[in-house]
Amino acid sequence: MSALTQLPAWQALEQHYSLSRLKHMRDLFAADPERAEHFSLEVGDLFLDYSKNRITEETLPLLMDLARQAGLPARIKSMFKGEKINTTENRAVLHVALRNRTNSPILVDGVDVMPQINNVLERMGRFCHAVRSGEWLGYTNQPITDIVNIGIGGSDLGSLMVCSALKPYGHPRMNMHFVSNVDGAQLKETLKKVHSETTLFVIESKTFTTQETLTNALTAREWFVARARDEAAVAKHFVAVSTNMKAVADFGIDPANMFEFWDWVGGRYSLWSAIGLPIMLYLGEENFAELLNGAHIMDQHFRNAPLDANMPVLLAMIGIWYINFYGGGSHVIAPYDQYLHRFPAFIQQLDMESNGKQVMLDGTAVDFETAPIIWGETGINGQHAFFQLLHQGTHISPIDLIASLERRSSLPGHHEILLANVFAQAEAFMRGKTADEARAELTAQGLQGEALEQLVPHKVFGGNRPTNTLLMSRLDPRNLGSLIALYEHKIFVQGVIWNINSFDQWGVELGKQLAKTIHAELSGKKIKATHDSSTTRLIERYRQYNQN
Ligand code: F6P
Repeated sequence: MSALTQLPAWQALEQHYSLSRLKHMRDLFAADPERAEHFSLEVGDLFLDYSKNRITEETLPLLMDLARQAGLPARIKSMFKGEKINTTENRAVLHVALRNRTNSPILVDGVDVMPQINNVLERMGRFCHAVRSGEWLGYTNQPITDIVNIGIGGSDLGSLMVCSALKPYGHPRMNMHFVSNVDGAQLKETLKKVHSETTLFVIESKTFTTQETLTNALTAREWFVARARDEAAVAKHFVAVSTNMKAVADFGIDPANMFEFWDWVGGRYSLWSAIGLPIMLYLGEENFAELLNGAHIMDQHFRNAPLDANMPVLLAMIGIWYINFYGGGSHVIAPYDQYLHRFPAFIQQLDMESNGKQVMLDGTAVDFETAPIIWGETGINGQHAFFQLLHQGTHISPIDLIASLERRSSLPGHHEILLANVFAQAEAFMRGKTADEARAELTAQGLQGEALEQLVPHKVFGGNRPTNTLLMSRLDPRNLGSLIALYEHKIFVQGVIWNINSFDQWGVELGKQLAKTIHAELSGKKIKATHDSSTTRLIERYRQYNQN
């Protein structure tokens, strides 16, 4: 048995679970008229209502005991101090330094990282100002109108999500494009929309070895040079963001056109670094600073607030309650905001690439569940698609409902309908509908007898389905920064409880290695005898098809 499951708090929680698991939230609300007040919290402009969870007054203290017994306070300190908590890669984990707006020194190997961070931020600021103001000219002396970001995973999703989320703050002249897929269709369709004279390609890769990114970047470069007919013009249209200056130079991008970040920034935590260059190009330096400010507010709160009044800790520990005690292995992200339509995908990478682990820090296997499956969609679309399963299916899947209060639309009436749905869904998930209520409803519709009784079970909603409701005044750079940092820290806390390394991702390597071998085989190299028969036949099928 792992040390975690032997902790007194874990065992107390198991006992508490067996005593409280059948309690219905309806009854908990009825018993405590102040429940919503007791179980809600505000940080900066983010308001969290976590009252519609299957927790009682006893649950949270037990969960906080577990956090303490798992050593959470010390681990939070270690991260902020720049200790090398990414043990398998011997790296510090310092996305918090990137938004350390107080500039207090943070040391890695005895060196304060703040001056380098500020230096890159200044360079980014100067560059973005030049591009946005129209000072930076392309090879035919025209200002830039289109940014094509080429990167994948952490070098794509963060900037893509933030640029979509903050579109109303975007530069009116600038069109943003994101190419991540090595399927040529994405690049092809993007290149159809842009002109070589007015396009800036931002090649983003932490390692600068990622095959998908380098392939797309090479093709984009060829496309560009074929039009500009001048290799020297590349310098005005290609910039790189990486930790690997040598590989950038080898690729043919002048290191003067490279924006640096560091190995202590994890890919999926990197939007705050130079990887956020597309964000700054689109939103400007001030809005980028606001994004950092928002994250800093959450960082300060996470670092200093007591555990039981700490928003990331609360979300994380309530998550642990479901994952490890109820056995609910999935979690839904449902933003009621069209601008946040890529937020579920972003959180999916953040959480599942971080905590999708099966061994603890010492390499021994876990004997408990780790990261939930994260999925989701804009809430309103989800309602007309998969919410049926969430209401009446057999899985328990907690849901985060995210919305803004301010009516942003100039189209009257829309926002009220949207928000009515957020609140109604949370209520429906909590309350459900009893057989008696269903019966009364059907009777009012004129049904009776057997016809009525046959329908009743289909109309019953068990309810007691957990939701968190996260509200902010408006989706602006600052609040988005706080929201992202909230999830980053939530994921960190869960990783600490499970004693896993949230900051490596060795699980993606095997597929990459095999793809290299198979790539050569698809192009004619002898097929290895070591493949299984299924893989061999698939490769043969491809080769046969492409010979004909
Ligand atoms: O394959 C996974 C991964 O390593 C992610 O963690 C990373 O964000 C992405 O690939 C891209 O890597 P890079 O920025 O080095 O190109």
